[in-house]
Amino acid sequence: MATPQTRGNWSGRAGFILAAAGSAIGLGNIWRFPYSTAEGGGGLFVLIYVVFVLLIGLPVLLTELAVGRETGRNPVGAFKKLVPHSWWPAVGGLGVLTGFGILAFYSVIAGWTVGYLGMAVSGKLGAAVDGESSAAIFGSFVANPLWAIALSGLFLLLTVLVVRRGISGGIERLSMVLMPVLFFLLMALALRSVTLRGGLDGVAYLFTPDFSELSYRVIIGALGQALFSLSLGMGAMITYGSYMSKTENLWKAGGYVAMADTGIAILAGLIIFPALFFAQADVTAGPGLVFVVLPTIFNQMPLGLIVAISFFALLTIAALTSTVSLMEVCTAYFVDERGWPRKNATAVIGAGCFLLAVPSALAFGAVSGLSEGGWFTWDFLTLNNNIWGNYSLSIGAFLICVCAAWKWGVPRLLEALEGVAPRYPIPMRGVLTFMIKFICPLAVLLVLIFIVVTGEYF
Ligand code: TRP
Repeated sequence: MATPQTRGNWSGRAGFILAAAGSAIGLGNIWRFPYSTAEGGGGLFVLIYVVFVLLIGLPVLLTELAVGRETGRNPVGAFKKLVPHSWWPAVGGLGVLTGFGILAFYSVIAGWTVGYLGMAVSGKLGAAVDGESSAAIFGSFVANPLWAIALSGLFLLLTVLVVRRGISGGIERLSMVLMPVLFFLLMALALRSVTLRGGLDGVAYLFTPDFSELSYRVIIGALGQALFSLSLGMGAMITYGSYMSKTENLWKAGGYVAMADTGIAILAGLIIFPALFFAQADVTAGPGLVFVVLPTIFNQMPLGLIVAISFFALLTIAALTSTVSLMEVCTAYFVDERGWPRKNATAVIGAGCFLLAVPSALAFGAVSGLSEGGWFTWDFLTLNNNIWGNYSLSIGAFLICVCAAWKWGVPRLLEALEGVAPRYPIPMRGVLTFMIKFICPLAVLLVLIFIVVTGEYF
């Protein structure tokens, strides 16, 4: 069994925050958030998403971190320690499986970012002058299944190379420099985008809720997005918390991570939607949205080529700090519970994930290509995205809340949250207690029940 010495640790608070923010900030913010917003009708989706981040995301984030630090284990081991001799470790098992499932489609999209980086460097993206020409470039890119498969394989390989080096030497080092650079580049892009002709219409679209759009689909989508974006509901933050020292105050660390993640998602929206209105591209472009819209604004900017190259390079890195966290959950399971050497675990997970990534890479490109340029609504990538990225995370978050609040107990949770750091003000503790005992599990449960009753699955 792995000891704390052999498992590894973050070097300190900054290292943890950057790595956890690195996990949270990724394609979920820049690729998934904009197109989910478009599918959810704009401002209303954003509003519900932000409410879910505050009401559910932040409390669940704090809970996962506390459970992880207290137990010092992967999700399965953590539940074994919290509630010995019970079926609760199965919740951790579902988490490990979910990490695997998400990684298998996430790496396909991450592969697209690498492909776009290549096209930016070779100057091919220069031809994307408006919505139509850009959509054509995207269409022919994803319709080539060999590229999609090779690039997602490459991405999984990169992920393996980082995760096998361990916690502070691999994961932490990667996030330290690159997250701040990403932020400044996004700020610059948002400024350019909102000042484009028609840009303010995009800002209005993002911030004006239209309540006639309300549906269960919008609500489950926003819940899934809040959980997905914060890397919650499957034990990624349990795992990251398990490498953290007892002297840190988790309230603050968790707060910073949630703030950074939500801020960057909004920033990405401020880039995409103004540009979308400017380029008059199709709002319902689905998973291709970002890839179609962004190149058109790069081509409207001074130094657009350099911006395009740096943007896709950084997006690739942001994706990598997230795939690394997904793989780390599965790796920690094999290291802690099965006693495998880390290097073997990463190799096996990487290879297994690649096999599962192939149908996602194929389905999206080949099938949608066959349907004469129209998007096939039922493809393997979207299916995986919904099953693992919405439903499984929601079920996981519900069970994690119930276990921590009702089996383990809120007093122990609060103590674990503070570690040996000073106590937090009473009102904050009260709010969290109320949220984690009642609001979070009830809200998630209601959403899940409505989904089943109304049959609005996807
Ligand atoms: N949060 C990441 C993103 O927004 C994706 C991710 C990484 C994730 N680890 C996770 C999602 C764990 C759910 C669970 O891109």
